Amino acid sequence: MSFPRRRESRGKAGREIPDSIRNDTGGKMARERSVSSEDQQQEEIVAKSEAPEEQFAWNLRPQKLSEYIGQSDVVESLQVALTAAANRGEPAEHILLHGPPGLGKTTLAHIIATEMQTRITHTAGPALEKPVDIVGILSNLDTGEVLFIDEIHRLSRTVEEYLYSAMEDFEVNFIYGKGAYAKTLPYQLRHFTLVGATTRAGMLSAPLRDRFGMVYHLDYYSPEELTRVVKRSAGILGVEVDDEGAQEIARRSRGTPRIANRLLRRVRDYAQVNADGKVTQKIADEALTKEGVDAAGLDRLDRQYLATILENYKGGPVGVEALAATINEETNTLVDVVEPYLLKMGFVIRTPSGRKVGEVARSHLGYTSPDSDAQQRLL
Ligand code: ADE
Repeated sequence: MSFPRRRESRGKAGREIPDSIRNDTGGKMARERSVSSEDQQQEEIVAKSEAPEEQFAWNLRPQKLSEYIGQSDVVESLQVALTAAANRGEPAEHILLHGPPGLGKTTLAHIIATEMQTRITHTAGPALEKPVDIVGILSNLDTGEVLFIDEIHRLSRTVEEYLYSAMEDFEVNFIYGKGAYAKTLPYQLRHFTLVGATTRAGMLSAPLRDRFGMVYHLDYYSPEELTRVVKRSAGILGVEVDDEGAQEIARRSRGTPRIANRLLRRVRDYAQVNADGKVTQKIADEALTKEGVDAAGLDRLDRQYLATILENYKGGPVGVEALAATINEETNTLVDVVEPYLLKMGFVIRTPSGRKVGEVARSHLGYTSPDSDAQQRLL
């Protein structure tokens, strides 16, 4: 797929945003990648500054839709939409990706830019506090370029309002000066593609959501898909893993490729130190059990969450804020990271009066009677 990179002339001729604003992105762009060799060098500099774990994760990411495993409906639909837009010589429409963390929203955003042979500017909702932050970034975008805003549900109201006209009319009304001297300067932007990602689609306002031409939900991966992810990553890392070893890691990865890749690295280390480096089911089981990942893929925080409902709240219902306070964890972490998988697997049930544990959690954690205060934990 190819998309011509070109500069459009601005509709409102001569109206330029002051350089101090155009050039002031306030460090809000976390990563910028490009198709040009100059920018590739820049990318390498950025990559070198990342922590080794992050860099590993980055190296394991698929670069093209054809390499992407799972989410087949999303991938097929994107393939059609991006090919059609590229053939017409147009930028892709704005795209919203939503779903739990670790399922590949950021990866897809970068793939979209690669497939359209264009640059991506990567930022996040909490980094864009003031209109000047977003105006600086928008005014630097070239035609067809991708602006990726992660955690888009965390944009401030004023920044979000700037995005409405930017997305719809490719124009922002820049206000400068204060009080009676304030002036509005309409500023024409180039036709960019906004890719937004969120773990909380429900928190997006309707006007923002409605401005995305394509909205995709990413769901948890099947064990078979994750097995393929593990084998692909093992190939890149040069780790020898047999079928059963890959399946064991996949089964214990909470349906999430990011977790699968992290566990693969832990199992690899264990195999290197305690065996001949080869990942078998036995090695994977030993390593993951030592890591605190149980047979169902639950980690310590998952089990603490469930055990707290069982032990402190008699199995629920309990409000998530009370639960977060009891286990000394952020409510957002529970809602965004812990709960989605537990809900999906039936370990927890959401009711109008709060969270309750499901029967499957009781038996998994070895709690026998629902009403007994003196329950015996077997795990
Ligand atoms: N690595 C992480 N996520 C992946 C995916 N969806 N496909 C292939 N490799 C991956």
